[in-house]
Amino acid sequence: MNPSMNSQWQLARTPLAGWPQDGDFSWHETTMPAPGPNQMLTETLYLSMDPYQWGRRRSGTEVPGEVCHGRTVSRVLESQLDGYQAGDFVFNTNGWQSHGLTGEGISQFGYMVPRKLDPAQAPLSTAIGIMGMLGLTAYSGLMVQCQPRAGETVVVSAASGGVGQVAAQLAKLSGCRVVGIAGAAQKVQFCLEELGLDACVSHLDDDLSAQLAAACPDGCDVYFENVGGPVFEAVLPVLNKGARITVCGMISQYGNTDGKNAQEVWRAAGQSTFDRQQVVVHPLFVGNFVADYQQRFLDEMGEYVRAGRVFYKEDRWPGLDQAPAAFSAMLAGRNFGKTIVVVRDDPTLS
Ligand SMILES: NC(=O)c1ccc[n+]([C@@H]2O[C@H](COP(=O)([O-])OP(=O)(O)OC[C@H]3O[C@@H](n4cnc5c(N)ncnc54)[C@H](OP(=O)(O)O)[C@@H]3O)[C@@H](O)[C@H]2O)c1
Repeated sequence: MNPSMNSQWQLARTPLAGWPQDGDFSWHETTMPAPGPNQMLTETLYLSMDPYQWGRRRSGTEVPGEVCHGRTVSRVLESQLDGYQAGDFVFNTNGWQSHGLTGEGISQFGYMVPRKLDPAQAPLSTAIGIMGMLGLTAYSGLMVQCQPRAGETVVVSAASGGVGQVAAQLAKLSGCRVVGIAGAAQKVQFCLEELGLDACVSHLDDDLSAQLAAACPDGCDVYFENVGGPVFEAVLPVLNKGARITVCGMISQYGNTDGKNAQEVWRAAGQSTFDRQQVVVHPLFVGNFVADYQQRFLDEMGEYVRAGRVFYKEDRWPGLDQAPAAFSAMLAGRNFGKTIVVVRDDPTLS
C-alpha cells in the first residue's frame, strides 16, 4: 500500500458464480481525494465484512468499477464538514478503501449517517460490531420484534457469528433458556463456555433435529433465523404454539444459483407449521429501526459493554489486501466471530 495514494478494492465484474471467486475484485491505487465544502477526508481503520455485501454484488446493485461497499471506522484527516475536525474518530461508509470522502453529495452515506465515536465509551471497532449495525440488528430482531419473556426458550442460528452472539446474549440477559446452533466444535464450545448458553448443537452433525429436540424440552418460543435451509427445517418441529421468528438472514442460501427466491422457498417450507402453530414471522431489515431505536440501543448496549455484561468476539484480518479473503471466509463459515479487516493500526490501542 502506497501511503500517499488511496488504495481500494473495486468490483471487477458482476459475480459469475454462487460464491466469491478470484477475479470478482480488482485492486487499484488512485490519487488521494480532496474534501470539498461540507465534506471530510477520513482514513479507514476498520472495515466491516457483512453477508449483505454479497447480495448487492450479485444483484447488480453494486456495479463493476465501483468501490466495494462497506461500513468503516475511520479517523478524520481533513474536514470542511460542520461538527468534525482532524483527529476525530467516526463511524462512516468508506467502503473497501484506505481513504474516503464523507459528506454532502457522497452517495456512500447510505442510511446510516456518520457518527462521531468516543474511544473512552467503547473500543472503536465495536462501532462496526456490537455497538453498530450488527448489534442493532440483533437488538431489533430479538428485543423489538420478538420480545422474549423470562423463562421462554430462544433458539439462535449462527450463534457464534457477529449478529448471533449478540442476539444470544441479549436473550440470556432477558432471562431466557438459550439454545445456539453453530458449526465447528470450537464454535459450539465458545457458545457454551464464553457466551454462557444453556445448550448448543452443531448443524454439521447428522442428527441435528434430534439434538435440537433434546436441547429444547419445552419447545422453542423464539427463533432468531440467520441461516435458513436445513437448519431452519430442523427448527420447525420444535416451534411452540404462538412462537415468534425474526427472519434476520439466510446465509446458507446466498450462493444459490437456481434462480429461486430464497424468502419464498423459506416461507413455503415453513407454512404448514406456521399455520398449525400460529407462528408469527417478522421479516427484519435493520435500516427500518435506525430512526426509532438506534439511540435506545446505543444507551442500553453501551451500558452492557462498559459493565462487561456482554462478551464479544472479533475475527480480525490484518491489511486491506486481505478483504476478499476475509469476505469469502465469512460467507463459507470459516470466520469465528464478527469479521473485521484492520486497515490501519488503531491509535487508541497503542
Ligand atoms: N436483516 C438485516 O437487516 C441484517 C443485518 C445484518 C446481518 N443480517 C444477516 O445476519 C446473518 C449473520 O450475519 P453476520 O454478519 O453476523 O455473519 P456471521 O454470523 O458472523 O457469519 C456467518 C456465519 O453463518 C454460518 N453459516 C454460513 N454458512 C452456513 C450454512 N450453509 N449452514 C449453516 N450455517 C452457516 C457460519 O457459522 P457456523 O460455522 O457456526 O455455521 C458463519 O460463521 C446473515 O444471514 C446476514 O445476512 C441481516
